[in-house]
Amino acid sequence: MRNGIGVLDSGVGGLTVAREIMRQLPQESIYYFGDTARCPYGPRPQEEIRAFTLQMIDYLSQLDIKALVIACNTATAVVLKEVEQTSKIPVIGVIDPGARTAIKETKTGKVGVIGTIGTIRSEAYEKALKRIDPTVDVYSMACPDFVPLVESGIHDHQRVLSTVEATLKPMLENPIDTLILGCTHYPLLSDYISQVMGPDVTLISSARETARELSTVLAYQGILQEGCTLERPRHQFFVSGKAAVMKEIAESWLSAPLEIYQVDLK
Ligand code: DGL
Repeated sequence: MRNGIGVLDSGVGGLTVAREIMRQLPQESIYYFGDTARCPYGPRPQEEIRAFTLQMIDYLSQLDIKALVIACNTATAVVLKEVEQTSKIPVIGVIDPGARTAIKETKTGKVGVIGTIGTIRSEAYEKALKRIDPTVDVYSMACPDFVPLVESGIHDHQRVLSTVEATLKPMLENPIDTLILGCTHYPLLSDYISQVMGPDVTLISSARETARELSTVLAYQGILQEGCTLERPRHQFFVSGKAAVMKEIAESWLSAPLEIYQVDLK
């Protein structure tokens, strides 16, 4: 039987999803790919996002993977449908799970979405939310400064807070009670975002629901690694940029020493 779960993102953002998979499915091994050398994807043209994402998928497909999680909203918006149609293994994106959670949480039916320029331009969340509940009001906004902030490592807390404050100012004008963090990098800023949005706005990260969907799909297909085995899962991390940068962020976020390899994608 094939073994691991492939997880990909343009950089470190998909770690928020990988961490939730590790929590919900502790027996599964993860092969994570972060295209850190070419991050951010958000402002790039669709064709480029598609080509880069397919390169990561090709790399992960040569490993022993039984399912693939596109842990990047920007890439999900561009390639999920295409990859679902051609892949021999189950493929899961992060947009539908996030939209479902938001609809479950909102009491007023007024939902905010923040994401990269690419994700917001695609209107993928708006469509996903309206498919579930056509009466929902959606307020969307791109936050292009957030991903570079996370990728550079969060050191200067005051600088991060003032960037988050300045960026989210227009969103505060909207009467929302729920805000979708429509980029997998953003949960790494959630303390700052919730400080700015205030206690009446619930933040939604699709990580938990995506991991739940993965678990359901694996169980349905009979390929879930169940019970306690003596063998511990082996997680491996691949990056196109500097391994040391990923190491610092990933080890502090996942609280464990990690195997990180640098891979040249070109
Ligand atoms: N973390 C990604 C997302 O969820 C991509 C961020 C970027 O590369 O711009 O959209």
